Amino acid sequence: MGTSDVERAPHTPVLVREVVELLAPERGGFFVDATVGAGGHARALLEASSGVRLLALDRDPDALALARERLARFGDRVRFVAANFGDLGGELEGLPPPDGILADLGVSSMQLEEPSRGFSFRRDGPLDMRMSRSGRSAADVLATASADELSRIFSEYGEERMAVKITRAILEERTRGPITTTRQLSRIVARVKGDREKIDPATRVFQALRIEVNEELQALSRFLVAAVAKLNAGGRLAVLSYHSLEDRVVKDAFRKQSGVCLCPPKLPVCVCGARRALIVLTRRPIRPKESEIRSNPRSRSARLRAAEKIASERTAV
Ligand SMILES: C[S@@+](CC[C@H](N)C(=O)[O-])C[C@H]1O[C@@H](n2cnc3c(N)ncnc32)[C@H](O)[C@@H]1O
Repeated sequence: MGTSDVERAPHTPVLVREVVELLAPERGGFFVDATVGAGGHARALLEASSGVRLLALDRDPDALALARERLARFGDRVRFVAANFGDLGGELEGLPPPDGILADLGVSSMQLEEPSRGFSFRRDGPLDMRMSRSGRSAADVLATASADELSRIFSEYGEERMAVKITRAILEERTRGPITTTRQLSRIVARVKGDREKIDPATRVFQALRIEVNEELQALSRFLVAAVAKLNAGGRLAVLSYHSLEDRVVKDAFRKQSGVCLCPPKLPVCVCGARRALIVLTRRPIRPKESEIRSNPRSRSARLRAAEKIASERTAV
């Protein structure tokens, strides 16, 4: 990676001031950036106090190499680990309980804009979409999934109303040969959907495949459990999500861990296992202001939620 990559901001971090305010790093402490990307949020946390130490994770080896370069001036205050944040529990084994944990979900601009990664329907490239560069690619999913699996992926992860018709068109194309490029897939989808929506017709299908390939929602659920378990008392967790499926997982996990009891109202004591481990700090998610959206359109769909770990867990009442 050359110096130009360091000088040029490759990814504009979203809601940075709000993230720093919520995680309150100014007193120092041990923080985790579970999705370091190009290091924008990490840098803001490290600059808040010379007493901040940071564990920086990313499952994308390219992102981690870039972050390492961009955060080099913080020396041994930062440790970089290539890891899936779903494995946070294991990564924190033997380390002190973190005072703050951040996850900024989804893909970075570097990933989206690099045609060879296959994340974007706007650029022609191989249908890859693997953040960690290992495991099943999007082309593999399209080549091997059954009709039921494909329509479930498109409707569940893309909330795509034409999932069945798109699946049919993919199966038909499969009889002619493999679907291997982003352009090939976006053309198939466009033929089925036309341009009835404001967004590009392929948007939902690409989102769905990306979530499937990277098992994003499963990793997020595991992350949220581990993050709450590992946080220091009084420590804070902040999560930035970019679509409603992710945000729902975060919102539900926060509700459950803040002791929202699901027992029938007549029961005298809680038996559903709800625990009060968190206080939710954001009753509604924080959204970027118009001015941020204007200067960074990618921030448009961002929602930030945060919670604080309480000193001792209590059974819900
Ligand atoms: C939106 S970017 C983060 C940008 C970063 N906050 C910054 O300021 O540059 C999301 C990053 O999360 C990483 N990522 C996504 N899912 C992950 C997971 N399950 N485990 C670890 N990293 C993940 C992606 O590889 C990507 O680099």
